[in-house]
Amino acid sequence: KVWCATVLGFLLPFSCAHTDFFTSIGHMTDLINTEKDLVVSLKDYIKAEESKLEQIKKWAEKLDQLTATATKDPEGFLGHPVNAFKLMKRLNTEWGELESLVLKDMSDGFISNMTIQRQFFPNDEDQTGAAKALLRLQDTYNLDTDTLSRGNLPGVKHKSVLTAEDCFELGKIAYTEADYYHTELWMEQALKQLDEGEVSSADKVYILDYLSYAVYQQGDLGKAMALTKRLLELDPEHQRANGNMKYFEYIMAKEKEGNKSSTDSEDQQEEKTEVKKKDYLPERRKYEMLCRGEGLKMTPRRQKRLFCRYYDGNRNPRYILGPVKQEDEWDKPRIVRFLDIISDEEIETVKELAKPRLSRATVHDPETGKLTTAHYRVSKSAWLSGYESPVVSRINTRIQDLTGLDVSTAEELQVANYGVGGQYEPHFDFGRKDEPDAFKELGTGNRIATWLFYMSDVSAGGATVFPEVGASVWPRKGTAVFWYNLFPSGEGDYSTRHAACPVLVGNKWVSNKWLHERGQEFRRPCTLSELE
Ligand code: OGA
Ligand code: FE2
Repeated sequence: KVWCATVLGFLLPFSCAHTDFFTSIGHMTDLINTEKDLVVSLKDYIKAEESKLEQIKKWAEKLDQLTATATKDPEGFLGHPVNAFKLMKRLNTEWGELESLVLKDMSDGFISNMTIQRQFFPNDEDQTGAAKALLRLQDTYNLDTDTLSRGNLPGVKHKSVLTAEDCFELGKIAYTEADYYHTELWMEQALKQLDEGEVSSADKVYILDYLSYAVYQQGDLGKAMALTKRLLELDPEHQRANGNMKYFEYIMAKEKEGNKSSTDSEDQQEEKTEVKKKDYLPERRKYEMLCRGEGLKMTPRRQKRLFCRYYDGNRNPRYILGPVKQEDEWDKPRIVRFLDIISDEEIETVKELAKPRLSRATVHDPETGKLTTAHYRVSKSAWLSGYESPVVSRINTRIQDLTGLDVSTAEELQVANYGVGGQYEPHFDFGRKDEPDAFKELGTGNRIATWLFYMSDVSAGGATVFPEVGASVWPRKGTAVFWYNLFPSGEGDYSTRHAACPVLVGNKWVSNKWLHERGQEFRRPCTLSELE
């Protein structure tokens, strides 16, 4: 047992580094179970400690009575030979035994459990990641800080609130990222909750210190001064605050002086950066709006041409008697959704196969062509081969039958799990001409089409959106969507740029199949025109 523990203790820190817990619900479920086991172990410890104290108490009471009687009449007491013997025995052995009991450490079991489990605990990086995910959600879904702190989110089952200390923690993480906008929001929230009388170990002086700095960094000198003043009322000797106050006053005075002589060139420069910002924002804005279900670009006229039908895969023998339900989700690019296309049992099998293999999803670095992790793709994924399970093989065949495309040249089935805050920012699934050929090794050409199964419903957030065309596709368990990434000519269709919105509440399971060009020469012949 000892050997086992030391070996584990030695190996685990390596194998568990960078597991990125916050990116997937699957691994976090393990943590919940770990915590449950630890509580059981902690309760065992409390029981052991209580029974120890109980024994000690009994001894003390017994001796209390005994000594009370004995001291009243020591000679009479010791006149009884049994009492004399018992006094010898008590002092020679029993008090010693009691001493051992008092010294006995009851915490061994709990502490060793804790030591073993700690290897699997999240680290600072995980905590920061989870905090950043919260801040990202706040931005994407336009969540008011107070709403988020009080846990008033749409579709939540287990309401949970943030304490003033939690808010302070979030503010500090934003601060270390030099994100003064969120620092201000969260420090202000912490302060507000304290002002409302919340009992907390969070310290107003510390909060005001961060808050005034964040406000100053964003250029609001007046407010920074007011906050520093408030800090100094609480702690008049605060060195930095006193220093800052003098500095603010100095800057203020200087600004007043220089106000008249301010030059035009500065204003122009400011304007320029403003324009730059505006140029840069649109896609992100569009993406976030679509994630919130705003900014859909579908006209009633176009909508009227979206239909639903029973589809038999062009008279595919497997679907003639039992055609599948198909809906048009979008016209250009054409996105279709298949309903009841994967059963709950199949979903469970796929998830179970994938779970032990989930690891942080990677992307192709456009500069090197190599796979790396990126902040813009936060999820865990695994690849499943058709050879390892009849279910996966059956799913592959289904995709082949319904798309009419050869799946033998496709990539393996990718299973992805997005935890809260998990997302994949706007991207193309196909390789662009200016990139080092990401799919060269595969030898099967570019990603001609994408098939995406939704293997869960998502309580809030988690849509697949197409910012170029203003489309949002909402996850519905058991359905799948399909679109072509390339025109028949082989040219990339830039309107297929898409993203997976951050999960706000719940978690999201998808699996997808990227079909490649090779093998489709007769199934989807190319055209002469480039953009068709
Ligand atoms: C992808 C992707 C969309 C989604 O994995 O390439 O775009 O909704 N996924 O998960
Ligand atoms: Fe994609």
